[in-house]
Amino acid sequence: YAIVAPTRDLEGMRVVVSAGGTREPIDPVRFLGNRSSGAHGVALAARAAARGADVTLVGANLQVEAPRGVRLVPVSTTAELRDAMLLASRDAHATIMAAAVADYRVAEVSDAKLKKDAWGSSPTLRLTENPDVLVELAARMPRGVVVGFAAETEPDADARRAIAVAKLARKGCDLLVLNQVGVDLGFGDVETVVEILDASGVVATASGPKTSVADAILDVVRSTLQEHA
Ligand code: CTP
Ligand code: CA
Repeated sequence: YAIVAPTRDLEGMRVVVSAGGTREPIDPVRFLGNRSSGAHGVALAARAAARGADVTLVGANLQVEAPRGVRLVPVSTTAELRDAMLLASRDAHATIMAAAVADYRVAEVSDAKLKKDAWGSSPTLRLTENPDVLVELAARMPRGVVVGFAAETEPDADARRAIAVAKLARKGCDLLVLNQVGVDLGFGDVETVVEILDASGVVATASGPKTSVADAILDVVRSTLQEHA
């Protein structure tokens, strides 16, 4: 058998990862949410810590266990996630927005549990737009590497990449991890296929278990950081 020396190639690097999915309250017992379990972000945090980085994991309603050896900051709403990310990433070398952030929140959150007789048979919820955390992070930390995620359902690969490059430019981030969401791609505990892009287009492709994909993303983050230095 072979003894593989542990690589501590991220020693000295401060990494902040958001993971999971934000929830927006409707009333004290109900919320608007999404299906993100947090597995991708948690795998990133785990691999970064295993490779020697100082890791803060901002976990939004994680459905998977947080890894050992990371600083966990639990959050629920987008507003909480935003505050935690802006604080934690102030002196970070790499900030990775793997969380599924709700684009909208409920405009008027009810203090009391909503009752059917008051709401009627066809109620409407008024929503209001949430701040874009990734845009704020990218604007605030021009020296560090900022990574966004995008799950696109566009079936044509070239069109999908074009959407991703445009999204990267719009967000102002350094890297964007693109994965295709389909029937058996991207959700659940299946193998993952991602493309990692910078402003020039695809710089790396990774597939396989979430840990290998996480390592590939961290490799690109590391080399981008070296280019910035
Ligand atoms: N994101 C964020 N704050 C938001 C919405 C998204 O920080 N309010 C981040 C996500 O964490 C992700 C990236 O932006 O890293 C891309 O998210 P995505 O939902 O694909 O982009 P949107 O700009 O919301 O565009 P759309 O949902 O219309 O595709
Ligand atoms: Ca969105």
